[in-house]
Amino acid sequence: MTDYAARRARLAAQMLPGAVAVLPTAPEVLRNGDSDYPYRHDSYFHYLTGFGEPESVLVLLAAQGERPARAILFCREKNPEREIWDGYRYGPEAARTAFGMDEAWPVSELDARLPDLLADAPALYYATASNAALDAQVQAWIKAVRARARSGVTAPAAFHDLLPLLDEMRLIKDEDEQATMLRAGEISGHAHARAMRAARPGLHEYALEAELLYAFRRNGAQFPAYTPIVASGPNACVLHYNVNDRLMQDGELVLIDAGCELDGYASDITRTFPVNGRFSPAQRRLYELVLAAQEAAFAAIAPGRPYSAFHEAALRVLVRGMLDLGLIPAGKFDSVEDAIAAKAHVPFYMHGTGHWLGMDVHDVGAYRDLAQAEKPSRALRPGMALTVEPGIYVRPADGVPEAYWHIGIRIEDDVIVTEDGYRILTSSAPKTVEEIEALVGKGA
Ligand code: GLY
Ligand code: MN
Ligand code: MN
Repeated sequence: MTDYAARRARLAAQMLPGAVAVLPTAPEVLRNGDSDYPYRHDSYFHYLTGFGEPESVLVLLAAQGERPARAILFCREKNPEREIWDGYRYGPEAARTAFGMDEAWPVSELDARLPDLLADAPALYYATASNAALDAQVQAWIKAVRARARSGVTAPAAFHDLLPLLDEMRLIKDEDEQATMLRAGEISGHAHARAMRAARPGLHEYALEAELLYAFRRNGAQFPAYTPIVASGPNACVLHYNVNDRLMQDGELVLIDAGCELDGYASDITRTFPVNGRFSPAQRRLYELVLAAQEAAFAAIAPGRPYSAFHEAALRVLVRGMLDLGLIPAGKFDSVEDAIAAKAHVPFYMHGTGHWLGMDVHDVGAYRDLAQAEKPSRALRPGMALTVEPGIYVRPADGVPEAYWHIGIRIEDDVIVTEDGYRILTSSAPKTVEEIEALVGKGA
């Protein structure tokens, strides 16, 4: 069981004594007509509450002197008529007990109660300048407190961004989070294997997307963590392609970047494989290069190593390969380092080798050590979760060997940093040339 109260206590302990934090969840968003997008809570709010209903706000009061910290939830009231249409809602009374809050009130009372809670608080923590509606609410609350100045009440004098404190907490995944992320990785890995088995020339990309979505949902994942990319042939060189409506041809590769979201945690996997089950020699050369780059990246992941090291390791392998295969003209550069300094790789490798992963697919957390003036890349620590996703993308161009034109390859896995290295969360997705060739097109 996730101890949300312990997370709230850890946050409150970092706030000024007597300060107040306000954190709303995400709004419902209309898609069209009377139809909303599937509701997704705000990640920060869920991290501190476990509460999934829209129209909810957490207010946290830091301890001061003898007065302990307090957590107050504002949420929708019970509404028997709406519940017939939309389903169960807790209502403040049941939510208070079920979610371990000290108090809970109807969200309709938020604006009336906030000025009282903010009276004499030295500081307010909230997501500053990230949400116009919240900024306007804060302004109204503060004005209401200031209007009472003559009765001796003081309004908060300091306003702090709440999110950096939460970002640092979310960056280190606890045991529960790691278990959920491992399961999300397993489900997504099996989904990739399912798509491989279903693949054959003459299918549309969306047929493979359907296999992925089926496998996610069939295994209990609530959503895709992001829009799946199923990019065959030249589409693989379009990094954010996701129309997924092309007919896949014999002799092409297909790049699939897809991961599920399970219980609020993302997974993020890319696999690239031949539609007909056999790598051509040119495809295989590039594939094995990307695989070697990923291996080099893994070897650079351990507690204490800088975040930047795994990208640098992958890049060196990729650029060595680009020189050897003639993608980068070897005569122009004396060394891999020279080619990297001249950014000769950028036409073929234009993204970083990973990112933090967690409740959000591109998860929160600083990539640099902001406490040091020169802001060096921060050191990895056990519990950090990240993706490792080298790639190579070859568009037609003068001087680039034609055998590699239109080939786009990325291989992406998810890892968690451990005490002595790292753990891969996504090894259920087949990856070696042999594993892929044995599986593609073999059917259910
Ligand atoms: N799927 C998003 C990413 O790989 O960063
Ligand atoms: Mn990624
Ligand atoms: Mn991805």
